[in-house]
Amino acid sequence: MPDLVEPAVPAGRMGGRSQPSLSVDELTIRPWTAADVPVLVAAYAEEDIQRWHARSLTEDEAREWVAHWADRWARETGADWAVADGDTVLGRVGVRRLYLSDGFGEAAYWVLPAARGRGVAGRALTAVTDWMFALGLNRLELAHSTLNRASCRVAEKAGYAYEGTMRGRTRHADGYHDMHLHARLRAPSTTA
Ligand SMILES: CC(C)(COP(=O)(O)OP(=O)(O)OC[C@H]1O[C@@H](n2cnc3c(N)ncnc32)[C@H](O)[C@@H]1OP(=O)(O)O)[C@@H](O)C(=O)NCCC(=O)NCCS
Repeated sequence: MPDLVEPAVPAGRMGGRSQPSLSVDELTIRPWTAADVPVLVAAYAEEDIQRWHARSLTEDEAREWVAHWADRWARETGADWAVADGDTVLGRVGVRRLYLSDGFGEAAYWVLPAARGRGVAGRALTAVTDWMFALGLNRLELAHSTLNRASCRVAEKAGYAYEGTMRGRTRHADGYHDMHLHARLRAPSTTA
């Protein structure tokens, strides 16, 4: 069946090039490597990251994580970066769902406890959002539990406007949570 709408981002524009590293202030936002396995295992053993991301990682799973994101970059279905200060990984930012032809993605992030409270997540999210908009995406959204105030602040500070509350949207260890939906647009909708 012919598609009457041109893809927002033609296939190959992202996966056809290697994943870039981005810089903002002292932060380097770079692809994950096998050397990051220990920090990934430690991150997913941390209380708040486990609580809000509802998963843990063994060493083997962390190795799979690194390979998985390289593969998703190549297939243009997602992108994930380590956020580092020099050799020290501080956190993670990525687009965990990505639909290039629709010009749409969903962002995700976490920051290790020692680096929290200095605007790492918001600055990294802004850098990745700008890169995705330059690629041709039009909308990036993110969702966080209504109980996660720190994540709500990150969204607001990165220009992701609150759009509403999705009731019982996401299962956590203690059951379904209501989730705030936030989004940033590159260009206003034609219906606006
Ligand atoms: C949410 C999270 C990503 C914020 O990252 P960050 O780089 O610390 O973000 P900021 O420095 O901009 O701080 C955001 C808010 O966190 C709170 N905060 C400040 N210092 C903090 C600290 N030391 N520890 C925890 N939260 C802190 C504040 O409410 C702050 O908002 P403010 O700037 O209006 O005061 C990080 O706390 C985290 O990874 N938490 C666990 C996993 C998680 O929640 N992931 C997101 C799931 S949607």
